[in-house]
Amino acid sequence: MATLLHLNAHPGPTRSATLRIADAFVARYRETHPADTVTTLDLYREGVPYLTATHLSAMAKQGRTALNEAETAAWAEIDARLTPLCAADKYLVTAPMWNFGVPAILKAYIDLVVQAGYTFRFTGPGASLGLLAGRPLAIVSTRGGNYDVPPLSRYEMCVRYLEHIFGFMGVEVTAVIIAEGMALVAPHEREEIVQEAIIHAERAAERFDAPQQLRRAA
Ligand SMILES: Cc1cc2nc3c(=O)[nH]c(=O)nc-3n(C[C@H](O)[C@H](O)[C@H](O)COP(=O)(O)O)c2cc1C
Repeated sequence: MATLLHLNAHPGPTRSATLRIADAFVARYRETHPADTVTTLDLYREGVPYLTATHLSAMAKQGRTALNEAETAAWAEIDARLTPLCAADKYLVTAPMWNFGVPAILKAYIDLVVQAGYTFRFTGPGASLGLLAGRPLAIVSTRGGNYDVPPLSRYEMCVRYLEHIFGFMGVEVTAVIIAEGMALVAPHEREEIVQEAIIHAERAAERFDAPQQLRRAA
């Protein structure tokens, strides 16, 4: 029995293309993995604090010196996000491309959870090891333009960033579901793009297993 943590960085409404694709992934995952638990962390609903000076001093002291009252409260905010992330076996990140990158709320969440000693550790000067190794990540992302070919491909900093930062924590991206070019086409063609992505999402959800299980099945 595994836990899938769904990190949702789209504010809605639910008819949004991104959320429809993510919902299709989750629905098919539940059908095909009935023993698993799916937990959704809706970043907009839950709220995510930005890192403050108090968070930074709590991080610097953590495990070394006693925290004062404000630092203890700040660390509790970090811990509330870290604990479910570290406890999960698989991840789904839902993130539209906004201004070439991820929505700011997702960046704020990432700033809280990329913590030395918890999700990665330093192994030497300039070297580190991800501590969430062996866990798979599926990404659902949408964008108005087409980023699969130059010149726009070099400005794709949403999926590429997620691949990098989760990879830094040891997580392996095993599925990327993208609906793109939606601002360039007529509404009915936009719906075709979304439907295609929904089919892709459902297929990915059916076989969304730990990387080593995927390699064994190949
Ligand atoms: C604030 C904002 C910034 C956006 N920035 C980009 C962008 O940099 N590149 C792009 O191709 N599309 C961009 N888009 C378009 C969204 O990626 C696209 O509208 C969205 O993925 C459609 O999905 P939705 O219906 O789930 O919102 C932006 C949309 C918003 C609202």
